[in-house]
Amino acid sequence: MEKRILLIVSGGIAAVKCPDLIHRLSARNIATRCILTSSGAEFVTPLSLATFSGDKVYDELFCLTDESQMGHIELSRRADLILIVPATAHILARMASGLADDLATTVLLATDKPVMVAPAMNVQMWEHAATAHNLEILKQRGIMVIGPEEGEMACGEYGFGRMSEPEDIVNAIEKYFSQGNRLRNKRALVTSGPTIEAIDPARCIASRSSGKQGHAIANALAHLGAKTTLVSGPSNEPDPSGVSVVHVQSARDMLVACKDSLPTDIVVCAAAVSDWRTKKESQSKLKKNGVDQKVLELILNPDILATLSKLSKERPSLVVGFAAETEDVIAYATKKRMTKGCDWIVANDISTKTNTFGGENNTVNLITSDGVENWPKMTKTQVAEKLALRIADALDQSAKG
Ligand code: CTP
Repeated sequence: MEKRILLIVSGGIAAVKCPDLIHRLSARNIATRCILTSSGAEFVTPLSLATFSGDKVYDELFCLTDESQMGHIELSRRADLILIVPATAHILARMASGLADDLATTVLLATDKPVMVAPAMNVQMWEHAATAHNLEILKQRGIMVIGPEEGEMACGEYGFGRMSEPEDIVNAIEKYFSQGNRLRNKRALVTSGPTIEAIDPARCIASRSSGKQGHAIANALAHLGAKTTLVSGPSNEPDPSGVSVVHVQSARDMLVACKDSLPTDIVVCAAAVSDWRTKKESQSKLKKNGVDQKVLELILNPDILATLSKLSKERPSLVVGFAAETEDVIAYATKKRMTKGCDWIVANDISTKTNTFGGENNTVNLITSDGVENWPKMTKTQVAEKLALRIADALDQSAKG
């Protein structure tokens, strides 16, 4: 089936490459409809975009005729992907702050479609802390970024900021569309974040986890087309788009929510579940009353990963656990794979020196029945994408027999 892209052309010199980009997309059976920002129109004309795309070019938010024929919601509804080429520092900043002051940014705020950007700007602008911060926010929201490349720029400077070539952008889009089907018709369940076990109305036992890795995995599985449920303990991470999210507090709530989302094909347990809870939660605040030592009686929480791995009915095809270790990482993780009964374990060293909990990066080892793979240090998003692709490979493999 023909795919449809909504192309937002913003105001940089690289906008002149858009007609060529549209031509290359159409050669691969990808249709383009354009929104041209007012600064984009300084570099490329509506007529040339209309000629190459074979469609009307949209540029005004408050044009009554357009709103009656094709409103900003409808524009995004009819697209499989929204692409911003070139993505200037300005449009990235407006997206990061959630502004909606023209048609392009209004569409971007109102859409639930995947968004890909190809940044292009002067090297100083690219390296500015504000741009880096905006890009980080956008990546966390699941926005895909192509380039920029290092090279000579129109302003005469040299460095990072040069937009990726149209052919590279087209290749990235094709790859995205082909991967978007890999887990179609599969269901995935991901646990993420910490769990919180109440001691009394004022205090709790919590585990350390930001939810970054688990949320990124849910996002990556959804990008491959899996119908994904994320069961998350309290986390500051935004809900990934296109994922159904269940917010929970305790390990027992998490287990109930996981069981409610069965049957599923894929399970990834990335949550740092509190192993224990108090034997009896106090309904009133525990008072010190001059006592300088207090013993809490703790009992073990249910093990969600082991429960899902050992389901006798409708066991998921692939169950992946994490092992958070501070020493003998591989040995402990290998043992955990056996005792919990899961298929794979992603082992990571969470000792303080690695800054894994709460940090952006992760260095993991994937332990399967075939042995141990050492993955290089990557961002948590990259770990998630690589893991999701490995999961897709494994399911393809088992479908073949
Ligand atoms: N896990 C779980 N339910 C629990 C405890 C852990 O689902 N009650 C899952 C985690 O999500 C992770 C894996 O089990 O996928 C391993 O968690 P980890 O904290 O490394 O190990 P524990 O089982 O807690 O064992 P230990 O504390 O002895 O290392």
